[in-house]
Amino acid sequence: MNKIIEKTILSADVVQMKVHAPLLAEERKPGQFVIVQINSDFGERIPLTIADADVKSGTITLVFQTVGKTTHNLAEMKVGDSIENLLGPLGRPTHIEKFGTIVCVGGGIGVAPLHPIAEGMKKAGNRMIIIIGARNKELLIMENRMKELADELIICTDDGSYGRKCLVTEPLKEICGRSEKPDLAVAIGPPIMMRFCAQTTLPFNVPTVVSLNTIMIDGTGMCGGCRVTVGGKTKFVCVDGPEFDGHQVDFENMIKRLGAYKNHESRAHKKCHLELAAKGIK
Ligand code: FES
Repeated sequence: MNKIIEKTILSADVVQMKVHAPLLAEERKPGQFVIVQINSDFGERIPLTIADADVKSGTITLVFQTVGKTTHNLAEMKVGDSIENLLGPLGRPTHIEKFGTIVCVGGGIGVAPLHPIAEGMKKAGNRMIIIIGARNKELLIMENRMKELADELIICTDDGSYGRKCLVTEPLKEICGRSEKPDLAVAIGPPIMMRFCAQTTLPFNVPTVVSLNTIMIDGTGMCGGCRVTVGGKTKFVCVDGPEFDGHQVDFENMIKRLGAYKNHESRAHKKCHLELAAKGIK
């Protein structure tokens, strides 16, 4: 049982929770994730990146978007409630070293998993250019925390309500075209954004790391739910990733697989809303 210590609403549909999990806080490394199960009898298992950890207080920070039934149920939980199962830390940690200049691109909720990676890269002595984007100002998260790490911070919104009115790929292309091009790009966000970031950096030969967030069940390489194709080979995101060479990922296949349970998910989601309405919660 892992008690919720703190809960913060970061934007319209993004919630941050600090959860008591001392062993995870000690062991986790940037880039790793946990599988969360609210209810161990029938609960869905969802992968969430560990956005931060504090060894002193024995807590880890999870940031998630309320997109489906389980994330809505999780968002309904209060400080003092407990999450039944947290499995992790899972996945291979980010390869951190001094590369030189790194451009980090975070879109929407992707800014949360990007933060520990940017923090680790900054500590390793890299010059950090950080681009964060969202559909509008209200949906932009963790601006101040990214500002602390960035030597240069660029903010983009689709509607121009804050920062530059453009997609994150526009400043990314400009940065790759500079006389001193970046030594590495890291892009985390919706699959379509990561796909276009990888397409943007490819002609400039800037190595590009993406972090994939697929459907997961066991998280230990046994169920095949998180299967992706990278460089023509089958890989499992939970054990071989979540980070891969963005120029090698078959995004089309990944996006198709992500939609496999859409109908089931929307039925479950509708049922969840009806249950909440019956209880007078929504
Ligand atoms: S989640 Fe089952 S193989 Fe990766």
